[in-house]
Amino acid sequence: MKLIPVTLLFIALLSSCTYNKEELLYNNTCDTSNVKYSVQVTNTIAANCIGCHSGASASGGIMLDDFTNVRAVAVSGKLLGAITHSPGYRAMPDFSPKLPECRIAEIRTWIRNGMLNN
Ligand code: HEC
Repeated sequence: MKLIPVTLLFIALLSSCTYNKEELLYNNTCDTSNVKYSVQVTNTIAANCIGCHSGASASGGIMLDDFTNVRAVAVSGKLLGAITHSPGYRAMPDFSPKLPECRIAEIRTWIRNGMLNN
């Protein structure tokens, strides 16, 4: 019976292939199921925006230093417009590459969920 080793080999190849696919999917996963202002939103803003958007000389008068100010910029549509590089908005972060898609998705989710102070 030559068929058994061949079949086993085939199964082994097939499952290793499936495993790789799962790993790939897992690594590409963007989990937006538990987005919080105090976690993802503030982390992204602190790392990418706060340097230019806080204090007396905040760029364009856009303040992203606390919840009330971030919420106001989000309500105006400018927050999402700027980070998604939408027409009519100045692309942010200024002089830096666009944020990773997952960071944008997290902020979009926070906005869709009602911009809670959570
Ligand atoms: C290197 C400095 C710098 C960084 C970093 C930066 N910005 Fe800006 N931002 C600016 C400048 C300059 C303007 C334009 C101000 C003006 O219109 O006079 C601006 C404008 C904006 C506006 C208004 C856009 C519009 O079309 O009206 C928003 C919203 C904004 N930034 C959000 C962000 C966010 C969110 C981040 C982080 C992801 C960020 N910025 C990072 C400098 C920066």
